[in-house]
Amino acid sequence: MSQEKKQAILRTTGIMCGLFVICVLTVVLGMMITLRQWNIFDEYVKIAALSVTVFILFAVFYVYLNYSSNSRSLESMSRMKLLAVSYVSMVIGILLSCAAGAYLGWYAVPLAFVSLIVGILVRVRVGVMATVITGMSVMIISPATELASDAATVMPVVLGCFTGMVSGFVMAFLIRRRYSRFKLTWGAIIVSLAMMPFSALISLLYTLDASTVLRNAIMTAIGNMLAVAVITATLPLYERVFNVWTDFRLQELITLRQPLLKKLNEDAPGTFSHSMAVANLAESCAVAIGINPYMARACGYFHDIGKSKNPQFFIENQKDGYNPHDELIPEVSVSMITRHTTAGYEMLKAAHMPEEICKAAIEHHGDSPVSYFYMKVKSITEGEVDDKEFCYEGPCPTTKYSAIIMICDICEAMFRAKPPEDMQALEKSVDGVIKSRLTEGQLDDCGLTMHDLKLIKQTICRAIPASMHKRIDYDKAKERR
Ligand SMILES: [Fe+2]
Ligand SMILES: [Fe+2]
Repeated sequence: MSQEKKQAILRTTGIMCGLFVICVLTVVLGMMITLRQWNIFDEYVKIAALSVTVFILFAVFYVYLNYSSNSRSLESMSRMKLLAVSYVSMVIGILLSCAAGAYLGWYAVPLAFVSLIVGILVRVRVGVMATVITGMSVMIISPATELASDAATVMPVVLGCFTGMVSGFVMAFLIRRRYSRFKLTWGAIIVSLAMMPFSALISLLYTLDASTVLRNAIMTAIGNMLAVAVITATLPLYERVFNVWTDFRLQELITLRQPLLKKLNEDAPGTFSHSMAVANLAESCAVAIGINPYMARACGYFHDIGKSKNPQFFIENQKDGYNPHDELIPEVSVSMITRHTTAGYEMLKAAHMPEEICKAAIEHHGDSPVSYFYMKVKSITEGEVDDKEFCYEGPCPTTKYSAIIMICDICEAMFRAKPPEDMQALEKSVDGVIKSRLTEGQLDDCGLTMHDLKLIKQTICRAIPASMHKRIDYDKAKERR
């Protein structure tokens, strides 16, 4: 057996043992909460049976997660983090549901907490699966604890948990589209109210008592609102503890109060304005190809942050006609320019920025040459030039975000220097940029498809004319008056 296989078996055994301990603790705590008493240990057979059952459910989720984490969509989060976020949420979900069930009623189980929190932090479909496992665990723990043989007790628990699970699925659809914290809260409140008739309908399966049906409907709404309240309170904690970059956290990152952006604005205003324009283009491209627009915007904002170390070496920040490159040999000029990618990467790493943003900073020029100086030296030395000395260190883009920034960066700088004359010229230029990067092999490892590139081209061609619309000449307007 290979060393790698042995390690994998050891790791899985370790995880399973840990999971079993977690299941025993969850069952014990769940039983204590449901029965509202501490002394439950004489029920050790029940504790053992429930622990094994919940463990089997948790193990099923582990297999599901293992299978899902092989797919590309879950690559951005490490497997251990995926497991930790999901299992912590499921345990909290079970205990919260036991507490809500015991003190408010089984229709108030806040199972939507699990679908929303796992949906926001991991993926919606993982959130839905986690909700099913949590709901089933609550269904097993609670009636078995209270009175297993009495159908009148079991029915409200099972149907209450079922209603809670359906609420969770509906809420999971809420976060399929990107929401602000405010909209998420309001959306969840509307879903809570909308679930009331469903809850009433489900209650009719075991009772015709109008007051019980009404009470169950109200409890469903309360349970869902409780779920949203717990999410609002715990989400910032989750974000910090597990270092997850949710849309909410990314939105906070792209405000101009962020210290690195503030510094860029003060020290390199030209680069700052270029970065804003690249970010706008990148966000539109991200929407077009279906990746996170907040992440794309953040990558645009920070891609040239390394330029704030020596802003005067970049043309967009030069004032009064002074150009320090006039006093330097081309090799030194090139090293001053190319340094901004690695410097930016180090600055962003030190500021604990998301990996995608750090990568966009170091990868957005790939290993392409600094054309101006390369051509200048080539013309002086009649073609005897070592290409590598005039190239960025790379690597070439390894994420869709880095590739988008690479394309938007060139287009923005190109059209800022020389606005396109008409739509045809614009399309030809954007096409040329993308084709040249493709032939150079810069886009080989970024994961963009030809269809993505087509959408990116269309988006840039639509966005550039809008960003370069003609301004009113105020001086002329005053003269006319
Ligand atoms: Fe750059
Ligand atoms: Fe740039």
